Amino acid sequence: MPVSRREFTRAGLAMAALSAGGVPSFALAKTKLIARAIPSSGERIPIIGVGTNRYGVGDDLELRQPLREALRKFHELGGTVIDTAPQYRSSEAVLGELIDELGIGDDIFMATKIDQETRGGNEARLQRSISLLEFPSIDLMQCHNLIGWKTAIPQMHDWKTAKRIRYVGITTSRQNQYELMETIMKSHELDFVQINYSLADQRESAERLLPLAADRGMAVLINRPFGGGNVFAKLAKTPLPEWAAEFDCASWGQFLLKYALSHPAATCAIPGMTKVRHVEDNMTAATGRMPDKDLRRRQEKFFDAL
Ligand SMILES: NC(=O)c1ccc[n+]([C@@H]2O[C@H](COP(=O)([O-])OP(=O)(O)OC[C@H]3O[C@@H](n4cnc5c(N)ncnc54)[C@H](OP(=O)(O)O)[C@@H]3O)[C@@H](O)[C@H]2O)c1
Repeated sequence: MPVSRREFTRAGLAMAALSAGGVPSFALAKTKLIARAIPSSGERIPIIGVGTNRYGVGDDLELRQPLREALRKFHELGGTVIDTAPQYRSSEAVLGELIDELGIGDDIFMATKIDQETRGGNEARLQRSISLLEFPSIDLMQCHNLIGWKTAIPQMHDWKTAKRIRYVGITTSRQNQYELMETIMKSHELDFVQINYSLADQRESAERLLPLAADRGMAVLINRPFGGGNVFAKLAKTPLPEWAAEFDCASWGQFLLKYALSHPAATCAIPGMTKVRHVEDNMTAATGRMPDKDLRRRQEKFFDAL
């Protein structure tokens, strides 16, 4: 069997580490992050992943450098879930190369997307993603913003049967798609749904979609947990309330993430983060206590009064 570039890099790193008297990087102990099970398989994933819609920086080495460091820290702290998409400019290519350089491919749970109306178009997308990401198969394939879903869902199931992907999902971050999302979730078998949910600016998905996902045994990836991030400018002038310590929260990033993750249907949140300090802050939200019902209500009241 030919050795993939990923396997080759991994073997090279292991040899280098062992000959230096150390242990391979992928065998180093990881910080214990809270993990949750994917209902359809029981496989557990850490509750914080990374969204990469700002990773499409092309070949520019200067722009790649902070992303490499952010990914290195993400992995070092125990992160595994990466969400990307062909629509995020060159993100898949950048990720493939950075993951290869860092030698962390075997620890990554890679989620990407398809967005074509035809089987041929989606087939080309899958082949391109596999090639750019340098992964032999994709962990989670998702129909992006429900584009071409009638074709995409059966096609993704075929790919799953053929072991070209491991899980099937759909995504949205638009409220005007919630009704269609609900119809699809009621009538199709899906391993994952990806939905926006944020204390900052969008809690409507908690009304029907998140409970429906729980009822249907679907894992939930929470996208845009900061509502895109503009809220941080406003929060910079607001002190964190003392009672945030009751759920081991020390920053606004953690305040927002712990709100999203304490919804009973949430499996994993995928904040966009391109800076090491944001990775460190956000990964801490995958540790310690979560807000209970009363604290969640207090969080909502606090935000509504801002
Ligand atoms: N329909 C879909 O499928 C869909 C739609 C939208 C998004 N998504 C996915 O969801 C991911 C997240 O969405 P998003 O990136 O648009 O929005 P987001 O996660 O709500 O916000 C990201 C912004 O918050 C900043 N940030 C991150 N951690 C922070 C912290 N601890 N303190 C202060 N600022 C912080 C980031 O800055 P830095 O970058 O400077 O670190 C970035 O500007 C995307 O990357 C994508 O993977 C999917």
